[in-house]
Amino acid sequence: MERVNKILKNQKYVDYLNRNVKAEKNRIFCHHDLRHYLDVARVAYILALEKNISIKKDVIYAAALLHDIGRWKEYLEGVDHAAASATLAKDILESSGFDNDEQAIIKEAIKNHRKYDAKNPPLDKILYRSDKLSRPCMECTVVAKCKRFGVGESPKLFY
Ligand SMILES: [Fe+2]
Ligand SMILES: [Fe+2]
Repeated sequence: MERVNKILKNQKYVDYLNRNVKAEKNRIFCHHDLRHYLDVARVAYILALEKNISIKKDVIYAAALLHDIGRWKEYLEGVDHAAASATLAKDILESSGFDNDEQAIIKEAIKNHRKYDAKNPPLDKILYRSDKLSRPCMECTVVAKCKRFGVGESPKLFY
């Protein structure tokens, strides 16, 4: 997990996390903070183990830790945060020691984390699912306003 710890200490990474925190100061719904990234990473890793998908643990964690780092850009510039996060991830992955193939796989999964497509590579699908399954919706006070749930639908725990 040495490379993952390099991501966590990366100056750009810390800066993007702070930008997200600032941009979401008054957001009533889920925040896109470190807690979210770690929840996604752990559920993604569980999914990979359950499905016997052999992707390196630190590659899964890298995708999860970086998948929303461009969220602040969506608030400020109206751009898609999945694409923005993939772009911002490049330098951080590079300086954390991920090779070109790993960078490509991780950036693709980040880019696709908002939409499910059965034809997408395994990491893309794992990231999509863990992003949804990791949310602590049961403690949320605004479930009725959240577009994730239909009328009368209540959150259930799976992981
Ligand atoms: Fe996202
Ligand atoms: Fe997310």
